[in-house]
Amino acid sequence: MKKLIIANWKMNPRSWKEAKRLFNAFKKLKAVICPPFVYISKFKIQNSKLQLGAQNCHWEQSGAYTGEISPLMLRDLGCKYVIVGHSERRKHFRETDEMINKKLKAALKAGLRPILCIGENKNQDAKRVVNNQLKKDLKGIAEKDLKKIIIAYEPIWAISTSGGEYCSPERAKRIMDFIRADFKNKVIYGGSVDSKTIKGYIDAGFEGALVGGASLKAEEFIKIVKNA
Ligand code: PGA
Repeated sequence: MKKLIIANWKMNPRSWKEAKRLFNAFKKLKAVICPPFVYISKFKIQNSKLQLGAQNCHWEQSGAYTGEISPLMLRDLGCKYVIVGHSERRKHFRETDEMINKKLKAALKAGLRPILCIGENKNQDAKRVVNNQLKKDLKGIAEKDLKKIIIAYEPIWAISTSGGEYCSPERAKRIMDFIRADFKNKVIYGGSVDSKTIKGYIDAGFEGALVGGASLKAEEFIKIVKNA
């Protein structure tokens, strides 16, 4: 069965020209692509297997929040998914679990499928961190909505731009099993995934991957989707 492979372009690429080149290369893939907001409305995904997602959203549907983007706007432009609580947002933009909880609720209300990112820093107890994040981030979300959330386990120290250490599929699986003991959600893996490592995570039981750096290299990302 084909897995859910999600490209997180982060704040890349630098120009629409380059974004268009990547998009055209990915057009026929069965995958999800999360570009920066500014490129979203430019991508024509009709008749394409590719689906669109965003990297963040606000917790209100509209209002006086200068510089923010609402989940309703994303839905209106054809997004199906939205990444919520990525470790880079938690770190650089001080997103708290309370904010993430509100964002998840708003995204669900707008009809988006949230991809909730959780994971520990180096030297932190993974189970304790993940448990704490899940408890706070998912607080008060009704059962019928809860199952729509995709959980991305991303050990921060394994993300390519913040250490990029290798997290073996066996090690990641222990946390996946820990999550699954309480939640029946789809669980995917993120952290320096490439065309060589993807299979290991899928074989370990992950239902897909959140791919950062490697999703900016056309050939590599195509291989990841094929190997998943
Ligand atoms: P990476 O990023 O694949 O470059 O490690 C993953 C992520 O931050 O979601």
